[in-house]
Amino acid sequence: MANAPVLDLGKYPTAQAFVAKCHEFFNEVKNLTPGHELEARLNATHGPGTPYYDAFRAYILAGLKEGWVAQTELDGPRYRRGRIAPPTPESNFISITTVYMSSEDEYRGQYHAHPYGEINCVILLDEGSKAQLKGMQGWQGAGWTSPGPGTHHYPEVRGGELVALFFLPAGRISYEATPGMAQPPSL
Ligand SMILES: [Fe+2]
Repeated sequence: MANAPVLDLGKYPTAQAFVAKCHEFFNEVKNLTPGHELEARLNATHGPGTPYYDAFRAYILAGLKEGWVAQTELDGPRYRRGRIAPPTPESNFISITTVYMSSEDEYRGQYHAHPYGEINCVILLDEGSKAQLKGMQGWQGAGWTSPGPGTHHYPEVRGGELVALFFLPAGRISYEATPGMAQPPSL
């Protein structure tokens, strides 16, 4: 599958503002460890209707129109990825990636592992959408998943279209993982 190039932020002022908003969020979560506890916490305090979530959704919707979100096709238009920004000192060394997935039936993307875990903001495109993304704790609609360090899985969608906005500590993701590998003690 194609690897997505890193976005040229200089071409997209909206994307620059989005990255600045991500940096604010990273300052809040930089000392927290991805995993089921962080997932529950983010869903309780940072879900739809809260400032960061609503700002991220607005930026992603704008970015889809402007062409800087998930612009590289991995499996035709239904599965696309975009690398918005690599880890930097300003991001507390957390990278920013967007993935667009669209499927009514369960659809699996590219198997991968997150050596340091992942913070994943699930953004639905339409009001009333029933789309869901599968995390380590099960299916998640609008809100958050946060697979813990060393976990591996298929990104899976069902029930419509969504953007998974994901943040990776140190930018680490591995596409060498396989479904037969053992999971860490904590997911
Ligand atoms: Fe993942």
